[in-house]
Amino acid sequence: MSTSVIESKGYIASIEAPFIQEMAEITHHMWELGWDELNGGNVSYLLDEEEVAKYINILEPLRVINLTFPVTELAGKYFIVTGSGKYFRNVIKDPEANMGVLRVSKNGESVEVLWGLRNGAVPTSELASHFMSHIERLKVDPTHRIVLHTHATNVIAMTFTHDLDELKFTKTLWEMCTECLVVFPDGVSVIPWIVPGSSEIGRETAKKMKDHRVVIWPQHGIFGTGSTMDSTFGLVETVEKAAIVYNLIGGREIKQKITDQQLADLAKAFNVTPKAGILNV
Ligand code: 13P
Ligand code: ZN
Repeated sequence: MSTSVIESKGYIASIEAPFIQEMAEITHHMWELGWDELNGGNVSYLLDEEEVAKYINILEPLRVINLTFPVTELAGKYFIVTGSGKYFRNVIKDPEANMGVLRVSKNGESVEVLWGLRNGAVPTSELASHFMSHIERLKVDPTHRIVLHTHATNVIAMTFTHDLDELKFTKTLWEMCTECLVVFPDGVSVIPWIVPGSSEIGRETAKKMKDHRVVIWPQHGIFGTGSTMDSTFGLVETVEKAAIVYNLIGGREIKQKITDQQLADLAKAFNVTPKAGILNV
């Protein structure tokens, strides 16, 4: 078999990797929802070495990129991430140019690019927030795999008109749709407005990730985490749905709502524990 046949076989195999397909599908879906204008949003997905090695040559890294924030806790771990400045609209058409598979170096100070990020592209500028969030979520949930950041339109709008106190913000979201308390009994957290792409926003986001799966960035967007693409996207989708309802109500007179007692009954029926300090029952 000629080298070109082997190479083209290898390339086809990479593009068919389920984790690449999942990333391409979810970024396309989020773009269709209007959440990821221009290059808005980024996703990172922790992968198993064995799974990566089935599709990608892990023995010959393409290049090394230094990190400005060491992540020793993630040494040797594999991720697929979206590229910085890349449009979600384009990922599905050309996954190799718009995403990359990375391995964190042994000292946690750099990443090796194993696939993708063609033509010198670099990982998302929010890599600090992603990596620091992965570290915190893995401490509390060994099944954790995904960090998803998106500019969910109604969540952003809500951060202009609603109090940013996270207990109040959570309670309003719970009140908007009956399923919310069941989907995120742990509530949502909110950080102050901080310059995106910075290590500072990464550290503040990660602090919240110690006990939340969702962090809201005022006037910017949302970070959601989870074990699977479905559950992570579903979580963000549910928060956004509640924000849509909140914005639709838009300050008009509320004639009836879900009471605290009903929310408590709901939690009991679905066997979830609502975040403390929110319900008055
Ligand atoms: P990247 O294109 O670097 O991923 O940045 C997009 C974004 O949403 C910044 O918060
Ligand atoms: Zn963003």
